[in-house]
Amino acid sequence: MARLLIVHHTASPTTQAMLEAVLEGARTDDVEGVEVLTRPALGATAPDLLAADAVVLGTPANIGYMSGALKHFFDTVYYPCLADTAGLPYGLYVHGNSDTAGAVRAVESVAKGMGWRRHRPALAVTGELTRADREACWELGAVTALAAVEREGYHQE
Ligand SMILES: Cc1cc2nc3c(=O)[nH]c(=O)nc-3n(C[C@H](O)[C@H](O)[C@H](O)COP(=O)(O)O)c2cc1C
Repeated sequence: MARLLIVHHTASPTTQAMLEAVLEGARTDDVEGVEVLTRPALGATAPDLLAADAVVLGTPANIGYMSGALKHFFDTVYYPCLADTAGLPYGLYVHGNSDTAGAVRAVESVAKGMGWRRHRPALAVTGELTRADREACWELGAVTALAAVEREGYHQE
């Protein structure tokens, strides 16, 4: 069974709605053979990450950066997981009220440092969520779940 790990900082109804749409997509019946694990960023551990075949990261933009909680996750896992997660496919969603560029840049920079593979461009939303934004979240969950299945299959070959 492949594993998709969703590491998120969810501090408001808007980020909760994004998380729920990502989860719904990740659990779609169209993608078989994947188990979805959800962890708040402050509770996610190195073993959670080491067991994952793909990751979705979710954060609000806070003071031009990722949330402190997601930064804490990276601080926790960086060295313990550096050697064993190279090539890990990841997806990212960010929500902000005006400008998400710094948060996206910060996450992508750390993920690149860990040698992870960006599975698709970051999904960055500002302001109120539209139906299209919810659909994009759903799709992010679904395609990253599929990436987990593909990576797990690759490792078994
Ligand atoms: C301390 C703090 C700093 C923030 N900094 C930014 C920021 O730099 N850029 C931005 O777009 N939004 C910023 N925001 C807004 C949050 O990203 C926003 O509250 C979060 O995405 C949830 O959205 P919501 O409040 O509409 O539910 C900040 C919020 C807080 C509390």
